[in-house]
Amino acid sequence: MSTTKRRAVVVGAGDISRVHIDALTALEIEVAAVVDLDEQRANERAASAASVGTTDLHAVLGAGNIDVVHVCTPHDQHAPVALAALAAGVNVLLEKPLANTLAEADRLAAAAATAGVKAGVCFQNRYNPTVRAMRAALESGDLGPVLAASATVAWSRTGGYYAAKPWAGQSHRSGGGVLINQSIHTIDLLQWLVGPVTEVSGRAFQLHPIPGVDVEDTAAFTLVHTQPDGEPVRSTMWATNANATNAPVTLDILCERGSLSLRGDLTMVSADGTTSVVSDDPPGATTPSYWGLSHKALIADFYATLEDPEPFWISLADALPAQRILAGVYEQSGLYGG
Ligand SMILES: NC(=O)c1ccc[n+]([C@@H]2O[C@H](COP(=O)([O-])OP(=O)(O)OC[C@H]3O[C@@H](n4cnc5c(N)ncnc54)[C@H](O)[C@@H]3O)[C@@H](O)[C@H]2O)c1
Repeated sequence: MSTTKRRAVVVGAGDISRVHIDALTALEIEVAAVVDLDEQRANERAASAASVGTTDLHAVLGAGNIDVVHVCTPHDQHAPVALAALAAGVNVLLEKPLANTLAEADRLAAAAATAGVKAGVCFQNRYNPTVRAMRAALESGDLGPVLAASATVAWSRTGGYYAAKPWAGQSHRSGGGVLINQSIHTIDLLQWLVGPVTEVSGRAFQLHPIPGVDVEDTAAFTLVHTQPDGEPVRSTMWATNANATNAPVTLDILCERGSLSLRGDLTMVSADGTTSVVSDDPPGATTPSYWGLSHKALIADFYATLEDPEPFWISLADALPAQRILAGVYEQSGLYGG
């Protein structure tokens, strides 16, 4: 890796930008600028990183000498910002989802694949110690084939949340609600851990409507995955923003010779019947635990592999399957023109 100090630009100075800036500061990566359409927000967030705030992304890109653009904008503003960075020949680290529609996500992934720079997506939960342990246990083959998998995301998003982030309750800007915004991480984990998905069947709807909000708050679906041995297996998932609190995500995988059960911590039952627990509690984490704790690990890895010739391991193409799954549920529900 180059010894020159890396220079980052953070675009979108809202809640998640704080997590990116904290990680960049801890990693001693310079925040060259913070860009937001709202100048005051840009300036305030920039001040926390001894950086400069601006509303002019194109001026920042035109000035050059930027290693990575972090895209932390609302969903409908992922593609325009990322495409501008790619066109300027700058590496891109994109917050989830890829975009507010599947068509836009496909276009962006195709552009990134030929841009000649690195592009990655913040599916940080793939770095959680528990999730890594699940993946390692499944890859070892010791537990045998998966027989069934199920997941739940039962969170709370109130009128106050949508008042603070109006875009999140407007389907033309967010592309949807609980599936595309909150539970996309768990959808990604299901397909990454159990296997590629060949069938999606589900419904998304509003269970507990909030005035002015037109996105789904609840969804239930089944997936059919192909396992490494070619055998199909079904998973089920239920997700809601209408819960009264943010409960831990659950993810259960039953295998022929053991099981994996994630509820915050991971409980593994091995082939010999022994039970072990993996904690999901990295010290010093500043992210709300229900978001997942591993932004810093993902960001560190992205910068550490910037000069490697191969794509980042969570490239835009690697993030497409989760977006295809949720778009399939939207289409079957007649939502968002999907
Ligand atoms: N990985 C995770 O766990 C995680 C967690 C929370 C949010 N997110 C994602 O982060 C993104 C931002 O979410 P948030 O909660 O920080 O939103 P937010 O509403 O708090 O902040 C978004 C900011 O972007 C600014 N903005 C809008 N359009 C812009 C543009 N074209 N150029 C520059 N700035 C622009 C807004 O003014 C606002 O300040 C979303 O994609 C969201 O899904 C990811």
